[in-house]
Amino acid sequence: MRQVIFLGAPGSGKGTQSKLLVADCGFNHLSTGDLLRAEVAKESELGLKVKNIMENGELVSDDIVLELLKINCDLVGSQYLFDGFPRNISQAQALDEQVLNDTDSMAVYLDLDLNVLLERLVNRRTCGDCGAIYNLVYSAPKTAGTCDKCGGSNLVHRDDDKEEAVSKRLEVFKTTIAPVLDYYEQKGNLRRVDAEQSMDQVLTQIKKTLGC
Ligand code: AP5
Repeated sequence: MRQVIFLGAPGSGKGTQSKLLVADCGFNHLSTGDLLRAEVAKESELGLKVKNIMENGELVSDDIVLELLKINCDLVGSQYLFDGFPRNISQAQALDEQVLNDTDSMAVYLDLDLNVLLERLVNRRTCGDCGAIYNLVYSAPKTAGTCDKCGGSNLVHRDDDKEEAVSKRLEVFKTTIAPVLDYYEQKGNLRRVDAEQSMDQVLTQIKKTLGC
């Protein structure tokens, strides 16, 4: 069973495409960002520790995120979409050595010009009840402020989607992504998808790449 690793800048569409693939192809979606945000919302010890780091657009320490990933991941009989992990070369190595072991895997890089991302992120709204993702420019909810999927009225603008935090997240991405791409390129399991197309076109290309 092949495990899938989504790589891409903040706002490249990892979460959006993961949710579509869960519905269409039966993957389990494991987003380290979602796991961390859940801890922040619970105000757990871990959540309180990482809240400011996330709001500032910086990376949480590798040890914390790896531990959180491991306790939420059981590869037996399950096909995962890893979203938001790995972010750097040590996380890529840890994922192989401590989580995937010899399991078959493929890294899919959602590739796009970083200049389009600020607009995507400052206009993102996420349903706080069911997790559906919207964009006020590209995919607005049918009724302003109401989730199309669950009818909830809790559409959230993430704290780290404010312009200053977005700039920091993009800067972090630019300084960490190259060695990660080299790592998967050298393993021969990196695939690139043009993520600047429409959501449907990106989904079609990913499905073709994954054969699902
Ligand atoms: P995380 O939640 O992983 O955020 P991210 O990687 O910055 O990615 P995003 O969730 O912002 O973007 P996305 O690619 O999922 O885009 P989406 O589909 O929503 O991480 C948040 C923070 O947690 C990090 O900054 C860090 O602090 C911490 N963290 C997480 N993992 C960590 C790790 N491994 N190590 C250390 N720290 C970690 O789409 C964005 C918007 O664009 C939406 O509005 C959507 O509707 C729209 N959109 C999507 N596709 C298209 C399209 N094709 N055309 C037009 N609009 C589109």
